[in-house]
Amino acid sequence: ASRILTILGSSLALSFSASALAQSPIVVKFSHVVADATPKGQGAIKFKELAEKYLPGKVQVQVFPNSQLFGDAKEMEAVLLGDVQFIAPSLSKFDRYTKKVQLFDLPFLFDDMAAVDRFQQSAEGKGLLDSMTNRGLKGLAYWHNGLKQLSTNKDKLTRPEDVKGLKFRIQASDVLEAQFRQLDANPQKLAFSEVYQALQTGVVDGQENTWSNIYSQKFHEVQKTIANTNHGVIDYMVVTNAKWWEGLQPDVRSGLEKAMAEATAHANNLAAELNERDRKRIIEANKAKVQTLTKEDVAAWRKAMEPVWKKFESDIGPELIQSALKSNQ
Ligand code: LMR
Repeated sequence: ASRILTILGSSLALSFSASALAQSPIVVKFSHVVADATPKGQGAIKFKELAEKYLPGKVQVQVFPNSQLFGDAKEMEAVLLGDVQFIAPSLSKFDRYTKKVQLFDLPFLFDDMAAVDRFQQSAEGKGLLDSMTNRGLKGLAYWHNGLKQLSTNKDKLTRPEDVKGLKFRIQASDVLEAQFRQLDANPQKLAFSEVYQALQTGVVDGQENTWSNIYSQKFHEVQKTIANTNHGVIDYMVVTNAKWWEGLQPDVRSGLEKAMAEATAHANNLAAELNERDRKRIIEANKAKVQTLTKEDVAAWRKAMEPVWKKFESDIGPELIQSALKSNQ
């Protein structure tokens, strides 16, 4: 009798583990480099919440903020290797995969975030989501952060000549490199996770970023002046492994698509508010001075950075630049 019980017991255990296997959810990892309290951080959390709601027991989403899992240097390769399923790099970080997305780095291309949004929703903008599928990366959505501000460890920061000779941390983008060279400054490509320390120790003198990134990374505590330049945009493309995505069960893929569409709307609605909140917090913290600029000052920055466009026009494509410009109207 005890033998029968043992046999029964082990076959029960077997069938339990088989059903547990059949039901074990797909683990989907979403890695990014910024804090939770930013537009991208909030978008990722919302995506997890919605994906698990629409696909109960089928999908588990794990979000890793702050470069905890992968930083700038590794995250794209990690997607291609299947070590992570979703990332949302800044649009400045794709130039190894496509030259077209460099469009977004052209200084003073867009008048405001509404224009950025109009372009991203246009046929040309949507087309760029598929510009890296031949390299294995599928773009699922654009997420907003906001316009960039320039900061340095100097007291005066109103005109382009104020940054001559200074060292700036830049994202891994050749356009941004050219932008700072055009200002006779020295750009240095550094991962986002290394910026605070580089500013603190004086490895670099300055950087460019959105209010929400400046505040959540405490850059304002190690900079003297932040000029309200709005000279470019930091937005994101959520990308996944194209093969993995195509290989998903159709119901899982469409559940994730729905979650992504709603998380996108959530993050994009929040972005302006979070940046405005953090701009005020930076002013209140009273560490770095926030330098407002006159129209003439802004015109001087625009003029100084203008030659950068010509350098990248043929890589990006003049038609694409034209359609981006159209979204300003
Ligand atoms: C940066 O590297 O400066 C930012 O683009 C980081 C981010 O993802 O917002």
